[in-house]
Amino acid sequence: MTSPPTSGPSGTDGTGPLHGVMPAPKASPRHEVPKLYGPDFAADPYAVYDRLRTYGALAPVEIAPGVGAMLVIDYRAALDLLHDPVTWSKDSRTWQETVPADSPVMPMIGWRPNVLFSDGEEHERYRKVITDGFDRIPPQDLRALVVETADALIARFGADGEADLIGQYARVLPLMLFNRLFGLPDSYGDRLISAIAGMLEGNTPEEAAEASAAFEGYVGELIAAKKQARGQDLTSWFMDHPAELSDEEVIHQIVLTMGAGHEPTTNLIGNALARMLTDDRYYSTLSGGALTPRDAIHDVLQNEPPMANYSTHFPKRDVYFHGNWIRTGQLVLVSYAAANTQRGRAHAGTGAGAGGSGGGAHLAWSAGPHSCPVRRSALLITTTAIERLTAWLSDIELTVPHGRLAYRPGPFHRALTRLPARFTPISPDQAGATPWESTANR
Ligand code: HEM
Repeated sequence: MTSPPTSGPSGTDGTGPLHGVMPAPKASPRHEVPKLYGPDFAADPYAVYDRLRTYGALAPVEIAPGVGAMLVIDYRAALDLLHDPVTWSKDSRTWQETVPADSPVMPMIGWRPNVLFSDGEEHERYRKVITDGFDRIPPQDLRALVVETADALIARFGADGEADLIGQYARVLPLMLFNRLFGLPDSYGDRLISAIAGMLEGNTPEEAAEASAAFEGYVGELIAAKKQARGQDLTSWFMDHPAELSDEEVIHQIVLTMGAGHEPTTNLIGNALARMLTDDRYYSTLSGGALTPRDAIHDVLQNEPPMANYSTHFPKRDVYFHGNWIRTGQLVLVSYAAANTQRGRAHAGTGAGAGGSGGGAHLAWSAGPHSCPVRRSALLITTTAIERLTAWLSDIELTVPHGRLAYRPGPFHRALTRLPARFTPISPDQAGATPWESTANR
């Protein structure tokens, strides 16, 4: 067996070693570390994944200026890593000492005492609080709440005949839903939405800090309200769980659950809608064709996972892994997107295939002990949200070609910035059995 190498890759500008990357497993063919950020990656991440495949099962990447990592792009290697908590830890504390505190990836990787960054018994304790909480929500109640939320949102823009289906629907629906599930009235929903939007879109550090403070304020009020009076909601169930979480631990699990939940749910709804509205096989479905929203969702999970690259892990000891030496504490991420679309195993291309692509295995929910604990609820939410929208706006179409849609830059998500669409305006029908009818039919 070879020994661990001792020198690391240099920054792309040649200024020195990347933070957080110790040794380079192999020299890059082009002597530069591929970037998972910036406009080029956002425009065509799959071209970058294809280039990465020349390295083998893992490739060195840069996830932010000066921050390096190893990316697992092979499906088998991803499973080996995700199912081996003896070798791999989720605790990022030692790593983050090697990376500037203001790095843009820190909000996604910086350690907090929550389910995502813990191992072993501590992880099981936090995870059980979250799974037990979601298990207490009957699926029919969750579906009814999604329908109610979807209808309320569609009512806001239905009469306009046009909408940005990300900003006005896919982004706000999960947050309005979480606001209710965690136990606050709808009047708080818009506060949560603007805080999260500010955190995602804040153009200056001051704006981002202001939004982050607004989010903390929201969670503070949520906890205070539930201390006064418990309810039938996730916050109360987290507080009263036999795991006996401290107040601080409850806050961290709430923040994590909302954070882990809203972004991929938005992207799953958005990416699936984008497919449906540009592929005739789905378009005709809206009036009785072959493929359904469920097919679009499975197509996205297979070929365009909403979380593209994540599952940050750090080896507890130097380890020789699928042809590479990885040093203790070095950052390794899993590319669900690259692994899923690896030649020979994935449903190639963007289509769902004749019978839909629902059957194949994929890593969109990750795998192993940290895999998404609420995938059933997430599927129910996304499917219902899409069914509701396409049921009411049956002639909906995009106003820009699919190839011109823009994606938010960043290494972790496959996230549309906007999804502009038009449709025949609708308005509430006070008298009818259904709440809507097309104004064109009046
Ligand atoms: C209701 C919506 C959702 C909630 C509340 C939620 C919650 C969570 C939580 C709490 C974790 C951490 C689990 C752990 O560390 O043990 C997690 C992990 C994960 N979730 Fe979800 N999730 C939601 C929707 C989704 C969606 C739609 C996707 C994408 C298809 C997704 C993909 C993932 C992935 C890939 C992980 C693993 C992350 C990692 O290990 O770094 N989730 N989710």
